Amino acid sequence: MQDYHEFLQEILIDETTLQRRISELGAQISQDYAGKNPLLICILRGGVLFLTDLMRQISIPHTIDFMAVSSYGVGARESTGHVRINFDLKTDIYNRDVLIVEDIIDSGYTLKTVLEILETRHPKTLSICTLLDKAERRKVEIPIHYYGFVIPDKFVFGYGLDIDENYRSLPFIAAVDPARYQPTE
Ligand code: IMP
Ligand code: MG
Repeated sequence: MQDYHEFLQEILIDETTLQRRISELGAQISQDYAGKNPLLICILRGGVLFLTDLMRQISIPHTIDFMAVSSYGVGARESTGHVRINFDLKTDIYNRDVLIVEDIIDSGYTLKTVLEILETRHPKTLSICTLLDKAERRKVEIPIHYYGFVIPDKFVFGYGLDIDENYRSLPFIAAVDPARYQPTE
């Protein structure tokens, strides 16, 4: 594994800023879902750090579940409309207030398919909470109810987000300098 300092362009969102925003989101969600026992669905694997920090900032009863999807694209960095469920929920979401917890929305293709699949199971409500919104890259419209930060069109890593599966554990969001990043293989 390369040391990320070699291709670090900049730290986009530092740990303090990230955690402060997550506690604001948790407070807002606690207020909006009071009395509702929402189900938070984490999309693996990128959303894991966000979910575990967010749920500790939610002061009302709630449950969690996980789902993994993969999208096949032209290159490893781009997704297309072809999304497959690799790991499905254990919870029956019928008539539940469901909140999807995502790391980042880029083109929107992945989440659009996830929304379509979950809608067929008739939850009472279905909303989205994404930490990052790469808004200018959007190809399909996605209704975002909660977001942490809108970020520019840069490839980012850290805090759950990977570069070829590495660096997910970094406590901040960093941008890659494309001129200095060499794939490890
Ligand atoms: P979308 O289908 O194009 O919206 O892609 C969403 C997925 O692509 C996210 O859940 C991430 O796994 C991945 N992704 C998109 N942009 C980045 C990035 O800048 N860094 C790391 N992963 C990313
Ligand atoms: Mg990923």
